[in-house]
Amino acid sequence: MPRRNKDTVVIAVPKGRILEQLSERLQRAGIPAEALTANSRKLVREDEKSGLRYLLLKPDDVPTYVEYGAADLGVVGRDVLMERNYDVLAPVDLDIGRCRMMVCGLPEESLTGERERPLRVATKFPHIAERHFRSRGIPVELIFCQGSVELAPLTGLADVIVDLVETGETLRQNGLVTLEKIADISSVLIANRAGLKLRRSAIQPILDALRD
Ligand code: PRP
Repeated sequence: MPRRNKDTVVIAVPKGRILEQLSERLQRAGIPAEALTANSRKLVREDEKSGLRYLLLKPDDVPTYVEYGAADLGVVGRDVLMERNYDVLAPVDLDIGRCRMMVCGLPEESLTGERERPLRVATKFPHIAERHFRSRGIPVELIFCQGSVELAPLTGLADVIVDLVETGETLRQNGLVTLEKIADISSVLIANRAGLKLRRSAIQPILDALRD
């Protein structure tokens, strides 16, 4: 990888299904992003002309790269920022990656009914779930799962799940329903504090273009 000079702006982006939407969103704002959708396994994608360098990361790692300054900017779902605190600036909502953080379960499940034990909640988002049920005054036992969390109520691992719902298709195909909304989620552009000061002339136009 060529050395990063003072004009190189490094942008951390999440690998996966959001990349296509993100590439379109950036290009609509006049920011070169063709490199993001190239059919390649390269984790660093350069746009030589503009001096932009994209890092393709697991979504949960994006704020870590931005917090430590390995990237100046990053694109991340609000869910990741709600689950853990990072010392980053969150300047622009990109209005992509729209989905909802929901409590879901079997249709007969009741969140408010009497029960002899705490409600068992399976989730990849234990802090979000814990905060939500504390504010609702519902005692819970949290069970951490990495993914395919819809299986938890079907197998008796948990009573309900807290998870992202986009189209609702995963819930439908597995016989689950939404029970309660926790938050609307979308992708935001985050920035490293020092990077913004040091490379303001290169970074500010990107923020301005995305804010319009
Ligand atoms: C996410 C989420 C749901 C699904 C929701 O999972 O956890 O399972 O997408 O999308 P839908 O409402 O459009 O069906 P993802 O595909 O990211 O995989 P995961 O289960 O490994 O988290």
